[in-house]
Parts: sequence; structure tokens; C-alpha cells
Amino acid sequence: MAEGQHLIIGDLVVQPPLALAPMVGLSHSALRTLVMELGGVGLLYTEMLSPKRLPQENEKISPFLIRSQQEFPLFYQLALHEESLIEKAVEKVHALGAQGIDLNLGCPAPQLRRQGAGCALSRNHIAVRKILATLRRRTRLPISVKIRLGEQLDEVAYLDLCRTIEAEGADCLTVHARLNGEKFCRKPRWEWIARTKENIHIPVLANGGIFTVEDARKCLQVTGADGLMLGRGGVARPWIFGQIAAMISGKRVLRESLTLSNVYRRFTELLTLRFPPERRLGRLKEFTHYFACSYAYGHQLASSVQTSVLFTQAVERAELFFLENEQIIIP
Ligand SMILES: Cc1cc2nc3c(=O)[nH]c(=O)nc-3n(C[C@H](O)[C@H](O)[C@H](O)COP(=O)(O)O)c2cc1C
Repeated sequence: MAEGQHLIIGDLVVQPPLALAPMVGLSHSALRTLVMELGGVGLLYTEMLSPKRLPQENEKISPFLIRSQQEFPLFYQLALHEESLIEKAVEKVHALGAQGIDLNLGCPAPQLRRQGAGCALSRNHIAVRKILATLRRRTRLPISVKIRLGEQLDEVAYLDLCRTIEAEGADCLTVHARLNGEKFCRKPRWEWIARTKENIHIPVLANGGIFTVEDARKCLQVTGADGLMLGRGGVARPWIFGQIAAMISGKRVLRESLTLSNVYRRFTELLTLRFPPERRLGRLKEFTHYFACSYAYGHQLASSVQTSVLFTQAVERAELFFLENEQIIIP
């Protein structure tokens, strides 16, 4: 990928071509703001939203919809399965000032499978066609779709799904390169993303298993993708987008020295700014689970936060951990 290369999704220019993945409990306003502040991210997603509940949600108080102006561009991810829910859900997404809509066709969570949404919907290409066609009629916003590789490795069925998604007017496809049932510890099958690129013409975002700049470089090399989406790697190292962007452009980004503890402190500040007290602790625990991996003794940080019963207690315990653990300057 050459310097200055960007990603175009519909009429939206995404630069750098790097996205923070939709993640339940993690991709909320506080994390999205943190990665924007640290730089290098070009596209943000909400966590997946229920099209049934969305029209009634109050964006001023719903933890799923709270958003600041800084979080831009932001795609709202919908776990659609019924055509009848699309009109009202899309009206709400328009009212919220979205920059795009993402269709979740990859989530294997049992409750979504039971509804026939997420990866369950992706098995029925006729239903995907109908849902996407209706979505396309209802919005002029860019539409992206996120998929996994399927129930089992079946290249014909997989490529048919990708072509269906393209033919029904999606502007971008994200591929999480694992089968529906595969655990996140399994090595992603990036080579399948390369095959996707050879068969469709809309931009493709590669997702799965990118935790370091070297992973990003290798993933781009293997897949030829138009951009990358990071999930857990973007939580564990929210500053990594800037490092990957620098690798892509070949330009070093000069910034003030950064310590892990200051990144963590800023995240707790953002949780406090964005969410009411009862919404903070759970989100801090989710974040800490991944963030703690950056420390040699991170399990101590993770377990002291996990066992806290109050947000303030968790923050105090984290401060104690920082006192005992040298602050690492992030390169
Ligand atoms: C805690 C958690 C929640 C997730 N929630 C969603 C979600 O709401 N929608 C979605 O499409 N994928 C979701 N995912 C999958 C991620 O978007 C991403 O595809 C996956 O983590 C693989 O990327 P990674 O290896 O960079 O983490 C979730 C993943 C995690 C770990």
C-alpha cells in the first residue's frame, strides 16, 4: 500500500485506511474517542445494535448511542434479519448523523443465530439479497458488510456470498478471516481475503489477528486488502493505529512521549465524561482485560480491576499497579 493511499467507501474517503472494529462492550464512545485522540484511525464503528430496539433508544442516555463530535466518521452496525425492521432503524441512524451503516453478517453469538441474524443470515443468500436491496433503497449512506468465512470452508458458497453483497450495492466488505465457529485464538485464514480481492471490486477490509505493526504489514502483503480493521489489538494498544499508519505512509509520526498509565488514565476520564456511574465499571473491566496484555505482569492489573466492586476502587487499584510497575514509554 503506497503513501497517501486511502480507502473510498461510497462517497466517503477514509484515511488512513484503518478501522476500529465493532465490538460489544468495547467500541463505545470512550474507546472511540481515545483512539481518535491517539491518531491513525480512519474509520469507527458502533458495537452491534438491535434494529428492533434502536428506534426507541434515547441517544442522550443510551450507552450504545452516546457519541461526541470527535468520533468521525462513524458507521452504525445493525444486526438485521427482518426486512420490516429496516425502515425505522435506518430513519433513526439517519437522525443520529451516521456516516455509514454496517450490516453484521458475521456474528456467531447464539442469540443472534436463533433470530436468524449475523452469521445465520449469511448462510441464506436470498435473504441477504433482500435485506441488502431494502437497505440500499432506504439509504444513500455508504453501506459496509462484515462477514466471516462461513460454516465450513466452501469457496464456491463463500465467493457467491461476496458477489451477492457486491451486486446488492454494498460499498465495502470486511472479512473476519475465520469460520463461524472458530475461536479467536485460531490463526486467521488471511489467504481467503486475497481470494476475495480477486473476485469482487468493492474495497475489502481485512480483519482478524492484527496485534502488531508487523502483523499489519504481513496481513496487507498476504491479502492485498484495501484497508485493515483491528478489534482486540486496538483495545490492547489503542495507539497502534498511528504506528500502522506510519508504516503504511513511510512517515514517522512525531508525538509527545506517551506512557501506558496515561493512556489508561485518559480512558477512565473518558468513561467518566461519557457514562453515568453505573455504566463505567463494566466497561473498564472489558477494556482492562485486553489493555493489561501490554504489561509483563498485566494479569495483576487485570485481576485487581476484575475484582473491584466500584469504579473508583478499580481506578485506585490501577494506580497502585502503575506505582509498582515502571511506566513504559510507547515507541
Ligand atoms: C468482545 C468482542 C465483541 C465483539 N462484538 C462484535 C460486534 O458487535 N459486531 C461484530 O461484527 N463483531 C464483533 N466482534 C468481532 C470483532 O469485530 C472482530 O471481527 C474480531 O475480534 C476479530 O478481530 P481481532 O482479531 O482484530 O480482534 C467482537 C469481538 C470481541 C472480542
